[in-house]
Amino acid sequence: MWNQRHAQAESLGQVADVLAQNIHLITPGSSALDLACGRGANALYMAKAGLNVTAWDLSPVAIARLTAAATAEGLEITAKVRDVIAKPPEPETFDLIVVSYFLDRGLAPAIAAALKPKGLLFYQTYSQAAVSDAGPTSCEYRLDDNELLSLFDSLKVRVYREERLLGDTQQGWRDRAMLVAEKL
Ligand SMILES: C[S@@+](CC[C@H](N)C(=O)[O-])C[C@H]1O[C@@H](n2cnc3c(N)ncnc32)[C@H](O)[C@@H]1O
Repeated sequence: MWNQRHAQAESLGQVADVLAQNIHLITPGSSALDLACGRGANALYMAKAGLNVTAWDLSPVAIARLTAAATAEGLEITAKVRDVIAKPPEPETFDLIVVSYFLDRGLAPAIAAALKPKGLLFYQTYSQAAVSDAGPTSCEYRLDDNELLSLFDSLKVRVYREERLLGDTQQGWRDRAMLVAEKL
């Protein structure tokens, strides 16, 4: 399913807000992992920002598109086909891990463990409370209220946003939650 979607998609995807809004928290030269990277918009953005980027996805089509884009732009990215559930990242290997629109709750401890001390997690995905029909329909793939906070309660919260259905739902940043958290 993912190969077909990645083959048909016109663009390389969108840079996640959690990354675009918080990239200043990371020092150039840091090691960064784009986990379940898709066609790699986040990976390309981080490489342009001077980070040392690794990107993994299950889909060979996604990795091929990312690799081609990186080559065309003269960027070095270590992009590999990898099933991150079967083969999670090794402990203490990255200064930054970015996860956007991918949710496997069982992987949370391994993601936290894969951060180096002082490392940062940037996570963004769909929430169950939503005002549009964007994203997956199954609750399995959508966050419950404050769930990123509980999944990563071993880390220190630096940024958290989840607006749910409060106030004027035509305004703001809806349908999703974002977390920036630090490993001490
Ligand atoms: C909704 S896409 C998000 C892609 C990208 N992070 C983004 O924000 O555009 C979810 C991605 O997870 C990948 N994926 C699903 N299961 C995976 C697994 N077990 N290991 C690695 N990647 C996986 C899919 O191939 C797909 O590219």
